[in-house]
Order: sequence, then C-alpha cells, then structure tokens
Amino acid sequence: MKTIFKNIKQLVQVREETLKPLKGSEMKELPVIDNAWLLVEDGKIADFGKMQDLPSFEGIAEVDASGKFLLPGWIDSHTHLVYAGNREQEFIDRINGLTYEEITEKGGGILNSAKKLQETSEDDLYLQSAKRLEEVMKMGTTAIEIKSGYGLTTEAELKMLRVIKKLKDNYDLPIKATFLGAHAIPPEYKNDRDGYLDLLINEMMPKIAEEKLAEFVDIFCEKGYFSVEDTHRVLEAGQKYGLKPKIHVNQFNSIGGIKTAVAHNALSVDHLEVMEPDDLDVLEDSETMPVALPSCSLFLGIPYTPARDIIEAGLPLALATDYNPGSTPNGNMNLVISLACIKMKMNPEEAINAATINAAYAMDILDTHGSITKGKAANLILTDEIPSYGFMPYSFGANHINSVYINGKKI
Ligand code: NIG
Ligand code: FE
Repeated sequence: MKTIFKNIKQLVQVREETLKPLKGSEMKELPVIDNAWLLVEDGKIADFGKMQDLPSFEGIAEVDASGKFLLPGWIDSHTHLVYAGNREQEFIDRINGLTYEEITEKGGGILNSAKKLQETSEDDLYLQSAKRLEEVMKMGTTAIEIKSGYGLTTEAELKMLRVIKKLKDNYDLPIKATFLGAHAIPPEYKNDRDGYLDLLINEMMPKIAEEKLAEFVDIFCEKGYFSVEDTHRVLEAGQKYGLKPKIHVNQFNSIGGIKTAVAHNALSVDHLEVMEPDDLDVLEDSETMPVALPSCSLFLGIPYTPARDIIEAGLPLALATDYNPGSTPNGNMNLVISLACIKMKMNPEEAINAATINAAYAMDILDTHGSITKGKAANLILTDEIPSYGFMPYSFGANHINSVYINGKKI
C-alpha cells in the first residue's frame, strides 16, 4: 500500500537520522523542505523530496497537500488518560478558594479518583478511556504514554493496566504503560507507608511483570506523598523487573528527587515547576529527559516549568499534556505547544522539537517515531491551509489539523 503526498507547502522536522534528543541551542533548529512530496509505503515514510524532483508514481493513492504543512504527529509522553469519572466539584472548590493541596488533605484529589475507579468495571473503564484516546488522536496525538495510579489496590492497579493493554491491542498508535502504584497513599495505609510500598513491590510488581503490563515505573516524589527514600526503593525494585523510571518530581517542592531519578538512569523527570540550580546541575551529565506539563500549570495556577533556564543550561526539554481528572482535564497537545510558547517563552521550533523528537525519546520510541525520517512510522499531521507552522501556537485554542495519519492510514 502506497500513498503520495504532493505539493506540501512545507515538510517539517525532516531529519536524516535521530539517534539523540535535541539539547540547548539545537532545539531552535527545525529543518524543513518547502514545496515537497512524501511517499508512504507499508505504513512507513519511504521517501521524500522537493516537488521539482518528484519521480513518477502511477496508480497509487494521492493526497494534494497544497497550502498545507506535513509534520510528525505529536507524541504525548505523560498522561493519566485511563480514569473513571471526573472531578469538576474540586474545580469549583478551587475557584472558591481551596488549594489543590487543601483538597487532597480533605480526602479529595487522587484518592477521590481511586474510589471512583475501584467502583468502575473494567469494561466501563475501557469505554471511557477509549473515547478520550480517540479524542486526542483527532487532535494530532500519534503516540501516547498512559499511567496507572488511580487504583491503589492490587486489583484496581491491574484493572487499569489491563485497560491500557486492551487499548494497545485495539489501536495502532504506540502506547506505553507506566506503573504508578506510588501515586498516593491509600487510606488503609495512612499510617503505614512502608506497608503500602511492601505491597507495591512484593505483590503488585511481580504480577505486572508476569502479565507484561508495564514498560515504565513512576512515583509521585513530593512532600505529603512519597519521599526521596521511597523513590529510591520503588525505582530499584522496578529496575529488577525491567521497568525504566519516569517520575513525577519537583511539582510543588524541590526535595532531591531528581538526583535519585538520575542515579537510577531515569528516562524522564516530569513536572519540574519548581527547579533549584542544583537540579539543573544534576541533569547536565545525565541521559534523563526533563518533561514540562504546561496545561497542568495553567489549570492549577502554579508556576510554569522554567524552560528558558533548562534550555539555556544546555539541556533538552520535552512537552506533554499530563491529561488527568485532577490537575489537567485536557489532552490537547496543540494547547500544550501554545502554552509553551506563550507562558514558557519557547520558540515554535523549540516547542515542536519538544513535542516530537524529545517526546519520542521520553517514550523510548525515538528510533521509530518523532521525525520525518526514512523508515520511521508514517504517523503524521496534515494541517489546514495556514501561513506558517508558527501559526499553530500563535492561534492558541484552535487546532488547524486537517487530518491525522497513523502508520500511513488516515484516522
Ligand atoms: O501529574 N501530580 C501527581 N499526579 C497528577 C495529578 C493527579 C490528580 O490530581 O489526580 C499530575 O498532576
Ligand atoms: Fe502526571
């Protein structure tokens, strides 16, 4: 099966090879080909070039991309898309003056979602989640990471991970599962955090490994949730089962979690709204990707991740949605990219690199996704007729996506 895209106004994010993430000043470069063609064959990017050098292709499907941009689909490397119900009452409570932390102390927050999820059947959870997945795919997300962490019992954590597995089986985009049993301490272990960690390590992890339900392990390393010591324990246990760390850290406080993550060679450290100079130093000699989640900052009214400090320190940066019912009930990567430009002062080139190549690295799929490179999957966004790629973040709140392709197939 072959498809030729012709008359592409600009083919964006064209790379001969992408072996490494983009760091510091490299993030400002976004290679393009004007007036281009691209050939998809058997779900992969087979070839591309300038229209003036178009070889003759006969009898194959054709897409006229006049006036449009073709770019690699967005990669969302941090979501909690599998959840039950919503938490709009907490949203109203926050409007009326409570903080996110105060809501958590009242038994709301993650525990509220865990209660709802425990009461929801696996089938119902699947249907709610599949609907969200289809919504974000239409907005250009063509690879996604999904976490557990609203179960908090062995049974409910496995239920979440099995739902993620079923999404993997039923949808063609890359989906990676992260075990986030250490998201909050369930009420029955309120005074026995070590007991909960024992359960997580000795009961949940072996079952997850046996059923091959996760690729990554995560923990919410934060005051009032899990300590640096807990983080060390969970990451060490995860590594025994081949689960690479990707952790929630520095959302409200910098307590040293980044150092522990880097010591365990974490694939990514996510949130980073509060960064101390030491945190940047620790990341400098590491292979760990910093990941910013600007829609979470918008929704909670907390600081934005200091992207300029991170990039100017010569580090890479990825962007993701954090789609979840509490801090970010939105999975729109286009909005994330706009917010990165508007609130974090990233250039459109930096934001697009952060949502494609660097995001692919944060999901461990950079060898197959994240750029227009021969042999990579044809997971693509075809835009509307727009004046420039910078028009996408500029016209915030609008998407300008004409169509989305997964393995060369229009969804
Ligand atoms: O990434 N910070 C921890 N976890 C989620 C939010 C959890 C919730 O409020 O349900 C996050 O923001
Ligand atoms: Fe999160």
